[in-house]
Amino acid sequence: MTARTAAQCHNIDELRSLAARKVPKLLFDFIDGGAEDEVTLRRSSTGFEQYQLVPHNFVDVSEIDISTVVMGRKIAAPLIVSPTGLPKLFHHTGEESLVPAAGLHDIPYTLSSAASTSIEGVGNLSSGPKWFQIYVWKDRAIVRDFIERCKLSGFSALCLTVDVPVTGNRERDVRNGLAMPLKPTLPMVLDMLRKPAWLYHAVRNPTPTLANLLNRVEGNTSSADLARYTEEQLDKSVSWDDAAQMKEQWGGPLAIKGVLRAEDASRAAEMGFDAIIVSNHGGRQLDHAPAPIDVLPEIVAAVDGRAQVILDGGIRRGTDVLKALSLGATACMAGRPYLYGLGAGGRAGVERAMEILKAEIRRDLMLLGCAKVSNLGPQYLRQVN
Ligand SMILES: Cc1cc2nc3c(=O)[nH]c(=O)nc-3n(C[C@H](O)[C@H](O)[C@H](O)COP(=O)(O)O)c2cc1C
Repeated sequence: MTARTAAQCHNIDELRSLAARKVPKLLFDFIDGGAEDEVTLRRSSTGFEQYQLVPHNFVDVSEIDISTVVMGRKIAAPLIVSPTGLPKLFHHTGEESLVPAAGLHDIPYTLSSAASTSIEGVGNLSSGPKWFQIYVWKDRAIVRDFIERCKLSGFSALCLTVDVPVTGNRERDVRNGLAMPLKPTLPMVLDMLRKPAWLYHAVRNPTPTLANLLNRVEGNTSSADLARYTEEQLDKSVSWDDAAQMKEQWGGPLAIKGVLRAEDASRAAEMGFDAIIVSNHGGRQLDHAPAPIDVLPEIVAAVDGRAQVILDGGIRRGTDVLKALSLGATACMAGRPYLYGLGAGGRAGVERAMEILKAEIRRDLMLLGCAKVSNLGPQYLRQVN
């Protein structure tokens, strides 16, 4: 029998199934899907299977420490919430659930540039660590504006996403007719009627919009206009010089998200990025790009301790986190696990996703015979294929 509430879910996959029952199909597919044949999407999770975890015996695991230090700040677990656009589409509370849940669990929340709550609004939602995801916009005034607003709203780090010169070809979205403005079809409406709780709140609440761009577009600020504006504004000619300029303007901890090549990682470390986020954007951009876990070892070697390395994508179990950390990552980012939780049960669902991953990390660390995440290393791994 499938779980009826998020609290009854035992793992991330069960939260995913529950979210699929509660969120309209076109929105669930927007979360769940990837680009084209979804080869990269699948590999990002299954890639972890190439490693076995080999336990050490007779290790004192009576006290377990899963805390770590990321971008200069101690956090309760090696977990970070990846930036995801418009979460209010999936549950009317959106960031109002995600941010306090991350604060409660003392893990960083990364607010997307395409968020449905403003930088200022999120700044007030928790005192936990908050990062902001930024792009290089053609209009550099937007970059400056975002940076100043983040400084004023207590954001502790910036995360520059570099893998979106154009949006990936997500065929589930095309097939489902997910577009802005949405033109409802009969199957869409019938599906929404089968998700009454979602529909009830969707009707009673304002249509989610790109909250941080509202002041940038004069006059018409419909979601469709803002989405078009965003697509137009993503700078396709962005260079390392732009990254250097951003680093100077921000002056605080800065991560680069979307790195899959060792030489790019090395260059970013040389430039002074504090963290390199190994990511294929959750398999949503270039299909057949490698899984983060596949390239992690060569990137860790190339960075050679000059910056922290964070793995983003494919994490569904605590054992995935332990494998990434054994290969040299400091922490793991995840997007969908928390969105499945959000769709499955709002704030309670997000908290459930965080509890599940934390509990798995703790238990699996004990089973592995390792008292602290900081002690993990390749000695715990065996590569099978
Ligand atoms: C619905 C959705 C929206 C996303 N929006 C953004 C975004 O606005 N900016 C960004 O840098 N990445 C975005 N991502 C990518 C995530 O930050 C992250 O790289 C990805 O979800 C990691 O894979 P995982 O979902 O398997 O954990 C999005 C991902 C999803 C699923």
